[in-house]
Amino acid sequence: MKSLLLVLPYFSHHLFLLLLFHFTSKSFSLCNPHDSSALLQFKNSFFVNTSSKLDTFDPCCSSFSFKTESWKNREDCCKWDGVTCDNVSNHVIGLDISCNNLQGELHPNSTLFKLRHLQQLNLAFNDFSISSLPVSIGDLVSLTHLNLSNCLLRGDIPSQISHLSKLVSLDLSINSVMDLNPFTWKKFIQNATNLGELYLDHVNMSSIEGSSLSMLKNLSSSLVSLSLSDTRLQGYLSSDILTLPNLQT
Ligand SMILES: *[C@@H]1O[C@H](CO)[C@@H](O)[C@H](O)[C@H]1NC(C)=O
Ligand SMILES: *[C@@H]1O[C@H](CO)[C@@H](O)[C@H](O)[C@H]1NC(C)=O
Ligand SMILES: *[C@@H]1O[C@H](CO)[C@@H](O)[C@H](O)[C@H]1NC(C)=O
Ligand SMILES: *[C@@H]1O[C@H](CO)[C@@H](O)[C@H](O)[C@H]1NC(C)=O
Ligand SMILES: *[C@@H]1O[C@H](CO)[C@@H](O)[C@H](O)[C@H]1NC(C)=O
Ligand SMILES: *[C@@H]1O[C@H](CO)[C@@H](O)[C@H](O)[C@H]1NC(C)=O
Ligand SMILES: *[C@@H]1O[C@H](CO)[C@@H](O)[C@H](O)[C@H]1NC(C)=O
Repeated sequence: MKSLLLVLPYFSHHLFLLLLFHFTSKSFSLCNPHDSSALLQFKNSFFVNTSSKLDTFDPCCSSFSFKTESWKNREDCCKWDGVTCDNVSNHVIGLDISCNNLQGELHPNSTLFKLRHLQQLNLAFNDFSISSLPVSIGDLVSLTHLNLSNCLLRGDIPSQISHLSKLVSLDLSINSVMDLNPFTWKKFIQNATNLGELYLDHVNMSSIEGSSLSMLKNLSSSLVSLSLSDTRLQGYLSSDILTLPNLQT
């Protein structure tokens, strides 16, 4: 700053203003306009009942936060609640709108799936009860963290989830009318080679047999946390799964 001030007198006013603009614009980010409009369209496709209370025993989400209510057109979306942007490209790379009480359909054509730079997505504790997990989830190939717990999703987990090969953490727990079939399970485990956390509690895994479950051994170098309570798994849990070298819980 000192050297800048010394040099300034030699510059024209015009250049000075340009410099000033250059410096100030660096200090705040402006969201990528495509990402901004995708987020607003996503928000507008849901209803948020801001007067309802959360009926849950989960201490992680004891009240709603209604983050999307702060999202306004013409404002920098990188500053919206729950939104994180890459500090160089200004693309949205993180979205945490858990406990927001979104109500409506998570449609396969949702503009959410246009946010191709997303690395972290948390939609936990929203009400998508008329939806199944859209196949378009497989388009978000940069995802490292995906949290869809307590979303009231139904139906088959689409096999396209196996496209998310960078996943480090997957939480689909407490979606009790959601099914995971052996075909999807196999493709997913083969591809998700960095997976460290896997939470599938209350997901219907009744069609997955012991031998397919043993594929978890292929994640032995990455998996540290695994939770499969109330998944209706049948048969024996092979003891070598419980001895995965890095497993902590
Ligand atoms: C919003 O939630 C309140 C409290 O649960 C409920 O009484 C009201 O009917 C809801 N409004 C709508 C439009 O669903
Ligand atoms: C998913 O989000 C919920 C609500 O914020 C939180 O309680 C839970 O711990 C998250 N799961 C993971 C794996 O971080
Ligand atoms: C930009 O982001 C990268 C990684 O996401 C981080 O390492 C770096 O410190 C950030 N730079 C600034 C100026 O915030
Ligand atoms: C989804 O988008 C595709 C392509 O834009 C379009 O052809 C299709 O009709 C849309 N489906 C629905 C149900 O809106
Ligand atoms: C594995 O992930 C890569 C990268 O996303 C993808 O191109 C490939 O189709 C995936 N394979 C399967 C079997 O889903
Ligand atoms: C669980 O999945 C099995 C096999 O796909 C199915 O027959 C059963 O009806 C499902 N159970 C529930 C409660 O959805
Ligand atoms: C699992 O790992 C074993 C050896 O580590 C390998 O032979 C096998 O092909 C893997 N299975 C799958 C389905 O990736």
